[in-house]
Amino acid sequence: MQLTINAPLDMHLHLREAQMLQLVAPLSAAHFAGAVVMPNLQSPVDSQQKLLAYRRAIVEAAADDSFTPYMTLFFRPYTKAELEAAREHIIGIKLYPAGITTQSEAGVADFESIGETVALMEELQIPLLVHGESNGFVMEREREFLAIYRWLAESFPRLAIIMEHITTADTLDILDEFPNVAATVTLHHLMLTLDDVVGGLMQPHLFCKPIAKTPHDLQALRAAVFSGHPRILFGSDSAPHPTHAKECCGCAAGVFSAPVALPKLVELFAAQDKLDVLPDFVTNNAQRFYGITPNPKKVHIHDEAWTVPLSYGSVRPFLAGEQIQWQVTAIEK
Ligand code: NCD
Ligand code: ZN
Repeated sequence: MQLTINAPLDMHLHLREAQMLQLVAPLSAAHFAGAVVMPNLQSPVDSQQKLLAYRRAIVEAAADDSFTPYMTLFFRPYTKAELEAAREHIIGIKLYPAGITTQSEAGVADFESIGETVALMEELQIPLLVHGESNGFVMEREREFLAIYRWLAESFPRLAIIMEHITTADTLDILDEFPNVAATVTLHHLMLTLDDVVGGLMQPHLFCKPIAKTPHDLQALRAAVFSGHPRILFGSDSAPHPTHAKECCGCAAGVFSAPVALPKLVELFAAQDKLDVLPDFVTNNAQRFYGITPNPKKVHIHDEAWTVPLSYGSVRPFLAGEQIQWQVTAIEK
């Protein structure tokens, strides 16, 4: 059986820099027409100059003119002039609570201070992408952040807000309460609970932020995604770290899923007999919510099994060594 997906998009992706960028950018470009690139580099992407330099590096590393990097700035207080200048180069601005995840130390420490910049973003119609976790108990962090999502959605009703990599049943309620809010969901959060991470032998390659939650949360996320919810977008949150930074004391958070994401999604949707809603999840919902028109890249996928390599360069991928029943066999640009 063959399936063709038009212009699949990854709406949340970490491409890193230097050697890691060279390794991972071509892997995303091989399957996706575009991706929303996260700005949490060692020195955050928080100026137009850094943004344009980073974009150039990505385009060069991807070496594929049918792959569009949709760039984001790292949230800080910006002036109107800065935002006006940046607007045409970005798809949105990514807000991290300070210190909540990899390279987010420069994030927001005091949410009462963000109103002015967020109001400007609403005025200029620049979407706000949010890593929504408090600094409370690890399993409650997303739930504790919901009050901030509600405050943002109510106070800035014309602002497009994207709740990134959501993991709990409660977070889904916000989508029904506010039409200006969308959410990304990862592949791994459609497959894992906390048990998979720490219920048996500890699995560092499944450790990520937000941490995988309960069976109830997993079922709720899967039901929402397979129902074809129009404001749930696929975002892999593929976040590569070299093996030595994962298999050590003080394991870095992040699951590297870019090379397996699309074929594994096809497998999951096919198993639910829901292939009809896959195009909405991987492209149409994102196009509609963000108002983007991606490259007309066609990705052909066949039901031919392959075994995921144990590593790509220095990085172990999600599902390493496992079989996936579908594979990308051809790309039409
Ligand atoms: C991401 C990373 O490594 O940059 N890690 C992760 O666990 N998801 C950052 C993030 O999105 O939280
Ligand atoms: Zn991320």
